[in-house]
Amino acid sequence: MKEVKNITVLGAGAMGGQIAALAAEAGYKVTVRDIKQEFLDKGRKLMSDAWDKRVKRGEFTAEKKEELLGRLSFIVDVKEAVKDADLVIEAVPEIMDLKKAVAKEVSEVARDDMVFATNTSSLSIAEIAKAAKHPERVVGTHYFNPPSFMPLLEIVHGKVTSEDAIQVAETAAKAMRRTVIHVIDVPGFVANRIFCVMSNESDWAIAHNEAKTALEVDSALKFKLGLPMGLLELEDTLTNGVIDVEYHVMEYFAETLDKSYRPAPLLESLYKAKNYGKKTGKGYYDWTDGKTNEIPMNAGANFDPICVLACGVNESAKLLEIKATTRDEIDIAVQLGLNFPRGILRMADSEGIDNIVNELNRLYTTYKDERYKPSSVLTKMVAEGKLGRKTGEGFYSYGFGKFEFVKLTANKETKVARLVLNRPSRANSLNLDFVAEINKALDEVENDNNVRCIVISGAGSNFCGGADVSAFAQGKADSVLKFSDYGQTLYTRMEVYPKPIIAAINGAAIGGGLELALACDIRIMSKKAQLRFPELTLGLIPGWGGTQRAIRLIGGTRAKEMVLLADAVTPEKAVEWGLVNFIAEPDKFEAMVDEISKKLANGAPLAQKMAKALLYYGAQGDQRTGAFIETEAAASLSLTKDLNEGITSLFSRRAPKFKGQ
Ligand SMILES: NC(=O)c1ccc[n+]([C@@H]2O[C@H](COP(=O)([O-])OP(=O)(O)OC[C@H]3O[C@@H](n4cnc5c(N)ncnc54)[C@H](O)[C@@H]3O)[C@@H](O)[C@H]2O)c1
Repeated sequence: MKEVKNITVLGAGAMGGQIAALAAEAGYKVTVRDIKQEFLDKGRKLMSDAWDKRVKRGEFTAEKKEELLGRLSFIVDVKEAVKDADLVIEAVPEIMDLKKAVAKEVSEVARDDMVFATNTSSLSIAEIAKAAKHPERVVGTHYFNPPSFMPLLEIVHGKVTSEDAIQVAETAAKAMRRTVIHVIDVPGFVANRIFCVMSNESDWAIAHNEAKTALEVDSALKFKLGLPMGLLELEDTLTNGVIDVEYHVMEYFAETLDKSYRPAPLLESLYKAKNYGKKTGKGYYDWTDGKTNEIPMNAGANFDPICVLACGVNESAKLLEIKATTRDEIDIAVQLGLNFPRGILRMADSEGIDNIVNELNRLYTTYKDERYKPSSVLTKMVAEGKLGRKTGEGFYSYGFGKFEFVKLTANKETKVARLVLNRPSRANSLNLDFVAEINKALDEVENDNNVRCIVISGAGSNFCGGADVSAFAQGKADSVLKFSDYGQTLYTRMEVYPKPIIAAINGAAIGGGLELALACDIRIMSKKAQLRFPELTLGLIPGWGGTQRAIRLIGGTRAKEMVLLADAVTPEKAVEWGLVNFIAEPDKFEAMVDEISKKLANGAPLAQKMAKALLYYGAQGDQRTGAFIETEAAASLSLTKDLNEGITSLFSRRAPKFKGQ
């Protein structure tokens, strides 16, 4: 593969300017070309202003900014602009004839080995490539807006795109800090295919009278399904309104995929009335008074968003069916491109593939639209009994050591297992599947003799930001009961779990995350962390044992202060109150966790197990009962090899070697 040194970006607009800035930051020599000098001046100013902001924030120096600007040239003459380019990234308006004209013009004056990457978000790469002198050197590179915040890049392979062109595009993309996924040249590629279909389906739900209003659909998508925003609200607000774009995309899908993908009725009437969303004042919602939208949590209680989810899963399965991309790439695309809280195929596994297929069949039989027909990928999974989490196998497998939210490793030498809460993009917040995985991880190390102590910490900068509130959006006390009981059961189990558990509180431990820490045996807190019960500020209560453990650990006065005032507790206060055992400077935190976990892992396992049970059960009854069970426990430990080893080692002045026997 040829080394990339010079990149030319065509178009200094919303996307081109930022793509050029990323290329300069990656160290490339960058030329920006637009059709008029004034467009180039405007683009240069936007880049310069954005870098000034970063200098102000202390992200880099003013000299660095000048160095970046020094890597950029701004040229109107096309021949001059592309003559040295190894890679040309085209970001001109989304018009097929224009893209083709640009591909033709550029490939005629550029070097023969130049790679032409188009940033189209919906047009066919093969069609654009036809106009180029070397169609095999044309590739799609679909950046997401704004590229400075959205790291996803879809690399789209046209029918004749060469391996070399793909590699050139990928190398440059990685240098520009992109997370790359690959997809063949299909309508909408991955993220927009799923987004547009699910948004259109949200609209169909209203047309079909399954939901009454946009508010009802959006509330269910947001609070029940856990999407960051309702999809209709998103159509109104994304870059100030994309209803016009969505309408054209669905027309395009209807032409290229199947006519049943046509724009849904409300979308069509909004488009025809030129109500494109925020930018025109009206869309699915009225924005004319300038207010931000408020979606009430309980507005979607009567609408089941499974119809929207099932259609998104079906589109994903259809992409897999034609081998357009892979399972992992689909899940990366929806998380990084659409800000979904989880991969859509992970969501399907949790919902149950049979439930997804049943829903698609229901929609198909009721509304007779081809797009609802379940993909053969899904029906085959059902036939093979691969129904998702409940059968241990779905799009992913859920066997031993296989987790979505937890990272579990065990060090045979130290006998310490590390259980990392691994959902950093959502502050490691807990949902029911997450809680189930912590339980499963504890199962996996419970009988492992090579594990004597478990350390729980959080991936990224948080320990655990709390628990999902979706149970509260169901409008049923039953759902909340199940949700609360799930957490209570796990946390109680941890208190009597036969091995010591350390909470290594590396960052914020909030709500359900703090309750998790309180159920551990020892708490070590970094001085950059904070603890907080925010529940009462939301009209909730700490529902996973928080009130009960807090009062036992720190007494009524302090527990009431924490719960009722809902303020953050600093590390200094936390250790003074006895809410945590130790605090450490951030740079000494890991060393402290290592030292204490090793010490516990070298302890006498049977005595530790018994002591934990005594400290828990004994505290539930009166003191005399506690003393009695303590006596019984002492007797049952008296004949163990560990006790013999402990006392022998004491008199032999050596460290004991406990075996748990
Ligand atoms: N804006 C988004 O949200 C977004 C997201 C992903 C992809 N895209 C895609 O990126 C591309 C550009 O979109 P945008 O939003 O930056 O558009 P834009 O209108 O902001 O910018 C396009 C720029 O291209 C210039 N231009 C027109 N003809 C040209 C030519 N022949 N040579 C060089 N420059 C030319 C225009 O003068 C303008 O400055 C489109 O294909 C769009 O679909 C946009």
